[in-house]
Amino acid sequence: MANLQSVKGTRDLLPETWNQYLEVQSIFHEIGTRFGFDMAEIPIIEFTKVFSRSLGDTTDIVTKEMYTFEDKGGDSITMRPEGTAGLVRAFLSNGLTRSTPVKFLYSGPMFRYERPQKGRYRQFYQLGAELIGASSAQADLEVLSFASLFLKELGLADKTQLELNSIGDKESRQNYRDKLVEYFSDFKNDLSRESLERLEKNPMRILDSKQEEDQKLVAEAPKLLENLNSESLDFFNEVCEGLKNFNIDYTINHKLVRGLDYYCHTVFEFTTQNLGSQNAVLSGGRYDELVSMMGGPATPGIGFAAGTDRLVLLRDQKVEKAPLVVVIPVNKEFQQEALQLSNELRKFGLPVEMSYSGNLSKRLTKAQKMDAHFALMVSKDESGSDRLEVKDLKSGEQKEMNQDDFCKLYKAVTP
Ligand code: HAM
Repeated sequence: MANLQSVKGTRDLLPETWNQYLEVQSIFHEIGTRFGFDMAEIPIIEFTKVFSRSLGDTTDIVTKEMYTFEDKGGDSITMRPEGTAGLVRAFLSNGLTRSTPVKFLYSGPMFRYERPQKGRYRQFYQLGAELIGASSAQADLEVLSFASLFLKELGLADKTQLELNSIGDKESRQNYRDKLVEYFSDFKNDLSRESLERLEKNPMRILDSKQEEDQKLVAEAPKLLENLNSESLDFFNEVCEGLKNFNIDYTINHKLVRGLDYYCHTVFEFTTQNLGSQNAVLSGGRYDELVSMMGGPATPGIGFAAGTDRLVLLRDQKVEKAPLVVVIPVNKEFQQEALQLSNELRKFGLPVEMSYSGNLSKRLTKAQKMDAHFALMVSKDESGSDRLEVKDLKSGEQKEMNQDDFCKLYKAVTP
């Protein structure tokens, strides 16, 4: 057993860290509720076609990163690499097409076979929001306002910035793709091997390239925004105007195209300079064709997902716990009284640990190690009545008091 290790790219998130995830999730849920969203839970595994049909069969996720296996019934199953496709599948499977707009939140682990590094894991966590069934720029603004307020309430407003672009409608993208192919074809000898492949399959992804040899060419390449048709440009301008009115700062990133095929019009990323190369903490965009790509009626949608691991790393904030109380029977005789007191205090809502073994001084040292705030020493006086000595482990003060007075004292120190 000594050699057993966790799978590369997965981590054990022990309580101190996991509590930070739970806190971020609870803030996400709370802000989402203010925007009329509600939490749903969808499966971690889906039929492989849910993803291959929607994310695009030339994308990195589908070609290289999915955890796909054949189950015992012979079906091809994939562990979700992201949440949007599964949520849209659930939207269709549950007959919600007539209940639009649907505003769902989700959270949980996602799986991608990527090269692990700080902020990038093979099992990672996302908090997602999807607004399905709204086509107007108002929906984009609502989703962007939600994302921006969420980051603000996490205390990350100063550490993140919004990057925005539009990849337009189908016609604009086709037109732009043709222009890109024409442009890059003149530089076939200078492009990286990866970009050369993309030139055939998905030329817009060349803009995403991190290879040095591509960067110069990309800088001079035709720009998306200059190739949008007038409807797409009007839509994008409405989103930008709205952001200005809401005082949400953004920069236009001409190279932002996003790695998944289902996007159209608005695409965005909140990025940070504090996490090295894994700089996207929350990303999303509009996906007006996704529902129909998956066999449903034409239904627009927009949403985002935040990388919880990256938010927690960036926030780097321990969760404040309620002060801990440790109950210690002065000797074996008073074990029953100590147990009873513990349970009564728990009913009042106090977190209480029982001290199980060792002499009084050992148990006090242990309580200190547990970072307890109070040690309650339980015994009886000569008349047989319960006796409670309360030691404040932070100040060292010790005093006899009754249970009610202790509860008052506890309340006074609770933040
Ligand atoms: P995505 O950009 O692939 O979009 O992922 C969203 C976020 O998940 C990223 O911004 C990043 O913070 C986090 N993330 C992605 N991969 C990893 C990884 N390997 N390790 C740690 N964090 C990671 C989507 O997944 C879309 N479904 C977002 C969306 C929702 N679009 C519309 N609705």
